[in-house]
This record gives sequence, structure tokens and C-alpha cells, in this order.
Amino acid sequence: MHEEALTRWQRGWSASRGWTDYHEVDDVTVVRVGEPERQVQYVATEQHANAAAHLALTDSHPPGSSWLTIATDDPDRFAACLPPLDTVRTEWLMTISLADQARHPVPPPYLLDVSATPSIIDVEICGYGEVAATGRMAVLHTGAVVDLITTAPAHRRRGLARATMTALASAVPTPTAYLSASSQGRPLYESLGWTTITPVLIARTPGTSPT
Ligand SMILES: CC(C)(COP(=O)(O)OP(=O)(O)OC[C@H]1O[C@@H](n2cnc3c(N)ncnc32)[C@H](O)[C@@H]1OP(=O)(O)O)[C@@H](O)C(=O)NCCC(=O)NCCS
Repeated sequence: MHEEALTRWQRGWSASRGWTDYHEVDDVTVVRVGEPERQVQYVATEQHANAAAHLALTDSHPPGSSWLTIATDDPDRFAACLPPLDTVRTEWLMTISLADQARHPVPPPYLLDVSATPSIIDVEICGYGEVAATGRMAVLHTGAVVDLITTAPAHRRRGLARATMTALASAVPTPTAYLSASSQGRPLYESLGWTTITPVLIARTPGTSPT
């Protein structure tokens, strides 16, 4: 269930972050991240969560640095079954056909800058002498993946994130896009027409405070 969408999102998310070393073990995607706080990310559907948990709890990484992304329809119930892993937060895997995404211009006096390689598009919106909003889209043959959508606190609720999303959608011919939404981001994406495929539970091995 949701396996294909989760895989498509993981491929694009990994491309966006430059985490190109990943492979499958027991229906779990193992992404080598290699950062001190996040050495590895195990990505799986609920059906394969036990295998993901086993991999996280038996690998050789320092405490707290093995992370899990588990697609589950009931994150609260599922979180209760996860100990000794620590639950970090719930996100939502979302999708849209980009042609259907609502379009919004950049509000003046802000200015838009778009830079692109064949597989990564970066959007930056500047105003009042600083970077106000940023976002990225990875473009793969399996679909586009939106990542790192952020508006600086002083510039929020002025339409900059929806303008960022509009610029990203305008830059690619890929029809279908995916993202994993934070609780703050989800209303934004819903307002643009994105729909939720499944909640995803983010967890990690115990050892340090959540980031
Ligand atoms: C989420 C975030 C990117 C929104 O940026 P923003 O520039 O303030 O968003 P916009 O002004 O373009 O909002 C467009 C619409 O999205 C919805 N929306 C945005 N932020 C919202 C919030 N905090 N609560 C409810 N709805 C919200 C509203 O419908 C809003 O339209 P409105 O202001 O006319 O009501 C910003 O709050 C942020 O950077 N948060 C921290 C990082 C984060 O969680 N990013 C998302 C990762 S998936």
C-alpha cells in the first residue's frame, strides 16, 4: 500500500539532498546519509516497518543517528508500537498533477530567481535586502519531488511560499509531483490543490534529543 508513491518520493528526496547511495533490504529502502546526526534513513511502508526497525536497532551507527520514515495510515497507534525507537513527528506524503496546482505570482516588491540543472530546480525569492523564501524540486523520470520549502519568519503569510511553489511547477514538464509535508506546510499545499496519500511517521533510534 502506497509503496510506489513512497518510492517515487524517496528517489526525488534523495536526489534533492544529494544522498545518492541507497539500496533495498527486505523491502526497506536504506539511504546512506552520512551526516553526524543522521547516518542513515530507512524508508518503508507499515507492512515492512518491523524489518526497518530491526535494521535501525542492529546497525553500527551512533545512538540517535539512524532514522526511519514509515508510511502508515495511523501514526499515533503505530508510534505506540515502536519503542525502543523514538517518535520524532508525523508528516504527510502528498501528490498533485502539476498542471492542476493553483498559480500565484510573486507579490511586489519581492523578486524571483530560478536556477536549474537537468535534475534540480532551485527557487529563491528576495526582498527588503534579504532572502525571504526558498524551495527546491528534484526532477526524475519517476516524478518531481518538492523539498526544502521555507519562508523566513519575518516574511510569512505574504504569499511567498505559494509563489515559490508556482515557480517550481512552472519550471518542469513532469506531470506528477510528490512531497512530504510538515504540519506547518500541509495547509499551504492543500490550498494549492495537493492531496494526501498517507501520513508518514518519522522516528529514530534513541540517544539524543529530536531535531
Ligand atoms: C509553511 C511555510 C513555508 C509557509 O510559508 P508562507 O510564505 O507563510 O506561506 P504563504 O504566505 O504562501 O501561504 C499561502 C497559503 O498557505 C496556507 N498557509 C500557509 N501557512 C499557514 C499556516 N501557518 N497555517 C495555516 N495555513 C497556512 C494559507 O492558506 C495561506 O494563504 P493565506 O495566508 O491567504 O491564508 C512557512 O510557514 C515555513 O517556512 N515554515 C517552516 C518550514 C516548513 O515547515 N516548511 C514546509 C516544509 S514541508
